[in-house]
Amino acid sequence: MAPAAANNVGILALDIYFPPNCVQQEALEAHDGASKGKYTIGLGQDCMSFCSDVEDVISMSLTVVSTLLQKYEIDPKQIGRLEVGSETVIDKSKSIKSFLMQIFEKYGNTDIEGVDSTNACYGGTAALFNCVNWVESNSWDGRYGLVVCTDSAVYAEGPARPTGGAAAIAMLIGPDAPISFESKLRGSHMAHVYDFYKPDLASEYPVVDGKLSQTCYLMALDTCFKNFCQKYEKHEGKQFSLSDADYFVFHSPYNKLVQKSFARLVFSDFLRNPSSKDEVTNEKLGPFTTLSDDESYQSRDLEKASQQVAKPLYDEKVQPSTLIPKQVGNMYTASIYADICIPSSQQK
Ligand SMILES: CC(C)(COP(=O)(O)OP(=O)(O)OC[C@H]1O[C@@H](n2cnc3c(N)ncnc32)[C@H](O)[C@@H]1OP(=O)(O)O)[C@@H](O)C(=O)NCCC(=O)NCCS
Repeated sequence: MAPAAANNVGILALDIYFPPNCVQQEALEAHDGASKGKYTIGLGQDCMSFCSDVEDVISMSLTVVSTLLQKYEIDPKQIGRLEVGSETVIDKSKSIKSFLMQIFEKYGNTDIEGVDSTNACYGGTAALFNCVNWVESNSWDGRYGLVVCTDSAVYAEGPARPTGGAAAIAMLIGPDAPISFESKLRGSHMAHVYDFYKPDLASEYPVVDGKLSQTCYLMALDTCFKNFCQKYEKHEGKQFSLSDADYFVFHSPYNKLVQKSFARLVFSDFLRNPSSKDEVTNEKLGPFTTLSDDESYQSRDLEKASQQVAKPLYDEKVQPSTLIPKQVGNMYTASIYADICIPSSQQK
C-alpha cells in the first residue's frame, strides 16, 4: 500500500563531522605575514579545519552517515534515497554516493535512489531539495531520505587561503520534521559567472576572484530575497518583513560575509518598506535609497551604515548560528547546514 501523503517534510535529525586538525587563524596571520587581526577580525574566523593525509571527503562522509544512523537508531534498510552534495572531485564518474553504499549493502539495501550534485556550494542545497521533493512526491515509498554535504576547501597560497575548511554533514529527511520546509516559498537565483571555478582537474585548488565572488553572492542574495518576498506575499496575502523571522542562517565561507549578507538584507528590507522603519534606520539608510543597484554593491559607506543598523538584530537572530563555521572554516556545500548544528552545550 502506498504511504499517505507526507506533510511538514524536512530535517528530522542531523550530524556533523569535521577533522580533528585545525590551524588557529591568529597563528596563520603570523605565518603569512598578514597584519594582526586580518583573519580573526577582518574575516571573522577563529580556526580552520583541514584533512590530514588519512582523511578525505569519502572517509568524512562514511563517518558522519554511520554516526547519524547509530545515534538516532535508524535501520539502514529504512533509507530509500541518498543524495550527496559536494564540489570536491574524487572521481570524474564514480559518485561519492556509491562509496557510501558500503554502509547499506551490508544490510542488503541496494534499493536507494539518488546521486551526487555538483555546483560549487549550491550542490548541498540541490541534494537537500531532491530529497525533500522525493518525500513530498508520488514516488515516495515511505522510507527516509538522507542528504550528505561534504567538502574539503583548500586554496592556493594567497588571500583566499585563510578561508578554507573541511567537514561532512548528514541530514535525515522525512515527514513531520522539527525543521520543515515551506516548499512553495523557495526563491532561487542562478547566473553564468566566472567568480569561482575549478578548471584544472589535476589541482584541488579553485580559481577564485574573491571580490567578484562577494558581489555575486550579495546580488544573488538580493534576488533570492525579492523572489521569496513575492512568493510570500502571494501565498500569505501580506508583506514579508525581517521581523517575521526568528532566525536567519547564511552560507558561511567566512563570518565577515555573513555579517555583510545580513546587513544587505536589512537594507533590502528597508528599501521595500521605508515607512515602517524607525527614525535611526531612516536617518542612517535614507541617504542611500537613490543609489543604483550597481552603485549600492560598491558603496563602502552603505556597507558600514547597514552593518551598524543591522548589529542588534544580527546579535539576536544570526550570531547564534555562527559558532561552528567560525571554528571550522568554509565547508562549501556543508557551510549553511553547519549553522543549524548547535552544540548541546549552547542549546537553550
Ligand atoms: C575574502 C577575500 C577576498 C579577502 O581577501 P583580501 O582581499 O586579502 O582581504 P581584504 O584586504 O579585503 O581584508 C578582508 C577584511 O579584513 C579587514 N582587515 C584587513 N586587515 C585587518 C586588520 N589588521 N585588522 C582588522 N581587520 C582587517 C579588511 O578591512 C576587510 O574587511 P571589510 O571587507 O569589512 O573591508 C579572500 O579571502 C578570498 O578571496 N576568499 C575566498 C572568497 C570566497 O570564499 N568566496 C565565496 C563567496 S560565496
